Amino acid sequence: MLILGIESSCDETAAAVVEDGREVLSDVVASQACIHGPYGGVVPELASRKHLEYIIPVIDMALGKAGCGPDKLDAIAATQGPGLVGALLVGLGAAKAMAYAHGIPFIPVNHLEGHIQAAFLGDEQPAGPFACLVVSGGHTAVYRVETDCTTTLLGATRDDAAGEAFDKIAKMLDIGYPGGIAMDRLASKGNPEAVHFPRSRFDKGSLEFSFSGLKTAAANFIRQHGIPLKKLSPEGSVHPAETREVANAASECSLEDFAASFQEAIVDVLVSKTFEAARQCGLRQIAAVGGVAANSRLRQKLSVQASAEGIRLFMPPIRFCTDNAVMIASAAYRIWTRSGFCLDTLDIDAFSR
Ligand code: KG4
Ligand code: ZN
Repeated sequence: MLILGIESSCDETAAAVVEDGREVLSDVVASQACIHGPYGGVVPELASRKHLEYIIPVIDMALGKAGCGPDKLDAIAATQGPGLVGALLVGLGAAKAMAYAHGIPFIPVNHLEGHIQAAFLGDEQPAGPFACLVVSGGHTAVYRVETDCTTTLLGATRDDAAGEAFDKIAKMLDIGYPGGIAMDRLASKGNPEAVHFPRSRFDKGSLEFSFSGLKTAAANFIRQHGIPLKKLSPEGSVHPAETREVANAASECSLEDFAASFQEAIVDVLVSKTFEAARQCGLRQIAAVGGVAANSRLRQKLSVQASAEGIRLFMPPIRFCTDNAVMIASAAYRIWTRSGFCLDTLDIDAFSR
């Protein structure tokens, strides 16, 4: 079964052709990072316009790389929501129009179901139910996922998503966009114990998350002390592209230390709640998916604890953590195997939440 997947929920225009849910024939992602970077976050109106510009070339490229024309496709899938409605409408409209023109089924896919499906896109796949951390720019939650990918929500954030916290503090630090990646890069050279940032605490065993307190603490630190300076490299030189001053050895908290400490506060909570969810459900398998699951420290800490506890861990390759269309085509295949094609999908609409 050959499915063309399309994803346009935020600032990536993506298309992919996937065979039988797992064999990736093509995977094209046009990022808008350089468009939104100067604003420090996604500008919805700009995102919609860029999707309009990119969507046809991206679909053409995905079909070309897969070596198949639209007549070879068995179905077309697109993200229905949640996401930015103006952005979603572009991918959804293109998918519906193509499906109608070629007389093949259109399969709407929930973006979160797409992210969860990515847990099955690594070399090994979960067998039986698992606890799944879904952590992105818009969502932070932990689910129990069954083998057929049906889900039960176990706990979610009460306020900000983890990716949102990364992005907002990265914007205050002016370190680049997307903020999570910039923070990850800096943090790899810093001391995670330099600043003690708060970890949200709820009743024992709670699977809820909260990152607004951490965000406020980090913002207050910056207001009080200013943006921490970069470490002086051992050679005493700075990369020519870097214009910001560097900290000298006497400086107490470098930018790298701040990033590492901030990241550690997020990662600690994500790791502990994921394992707590597995413990409560008696599950011996866990997965982490979504853009923030690309974070190197999170991947490292999950791996270490999973090995220590003898729990199987599934993390998609990094390119399937951040938004992509392979996960959408793959989730559509899952939907089809679970419930078959629904024929009256052409009048469905996008939803934001
Ligand atoms: O899943 P995604 O691509 O889009 C949404 O569905 O939101 O996730 C985007 C989020 C952004 O907040 C971005 O900063 C974050 O994932 N992110 C990271 C890393 N790579 C992307 N956060 C931490 N470390 C990373 N390496
Ligand atoms: Zn996403």
